[in-house]
Amino acid sequence: MKPEVTAFFDNATNTISFVVKDPEGTSCAIIDSVLDFDYSSGRTDTKSADEVIAYVRDQGLTVEWLLESHVHADHLSAAPYIQERVGGKIGIGENITLVQDTFGKVFNEGTEFQRDGSQFDRLFKEGDSLMIGQLRGDVLHTPGHTPACLTYVIGDAAFVGDTLFMPDFGTARCDFPGGSSETLYNSIQKILALPDETRIFVGHDYKAPGRDEYQWETTVGAQKTQNIHVGEGKDKDAFVEMRDTRDATLAMPKLIIPSLQVNMRAGQMPEPDEQGDVFLKVPVNKI
Ligand SMILES: [Fe+2]
Repeated sequence: MKPEVTAFFDNATNTISFVVKDPEGTSCAIIDSVLDFDYSSGRTDTKSADEVIAYVRDQGLTVEWLLESHVHADHLSAAPYIQERVGGKIGIGENITLVQDTFGKVFNEGTEFQRDGSQFDRLFKEGDSLMIGQLRGDVLHTPGHTPACLTYVIGDAAFVGDTLFMPDFGTARCDFPGGSSETLYNSIQKILALPDETRIFVGHDYKAPGRDEYQWETTVGAQKTQNIHVGEGKDKDAFVEMRDTRDATLAMPKLIIPSLQVNMRAGQMPEPDEQGDVFLKVPVNKI
């Protein structure tokens, strides 16, 4: 089956959110939604999420799932905000527990912060499937960028999150805690083993040198032959060497500190204090 895929590009974080619709019904899933956050003022905004909600309502869609490809470090998830308005179950990879454990320590969260993934409605593992109306999705565990990264293969389309980017841009970084370039290389081989005509939708785009527009759709076949990091002729050792060298030069994403604290809670803010005020922490010299 060929799902109908509508993309929403967020300029502030270069994130692409997708609405994936059953071609024979009105069911859909929303993948990797964005809650806008202005770090300098500490203010959230729902403009990006409201666009997706308006689209879903205009099209008369039923939201079955709010899927996260992983705990994002560059943007806040709007999944709970969207869920409150149009429904859907929030799903992520079962290794979220590892991510919660790691960052529970980094942010010195108390025992009230559960590290069992219970903030999410569903934890997926390799081989699990989900239904969007009549449309079936299969889950691949594709760690490397983070331990909890999933690829959702829905009909003929694979939503790869931060594993592969567009062929001319390459792959995602692997230097966050729990990341591994060798693991990412192995995960990418799983994606490349899908049929060549499989459509691939990537979680971010930054344009590549010589390209003027943002893009987010390619195919397994194109990745195999053209991906500058893992396409034909690039072996694992060369990839690991390239990836680790390059990652050492990259700055942390602007929103990593608020993103992790919110996304490891399934997109919820930390509990408010006695006055009802919400605070995020900045751990000094820890990330
Ligand atoms: Fe990411």
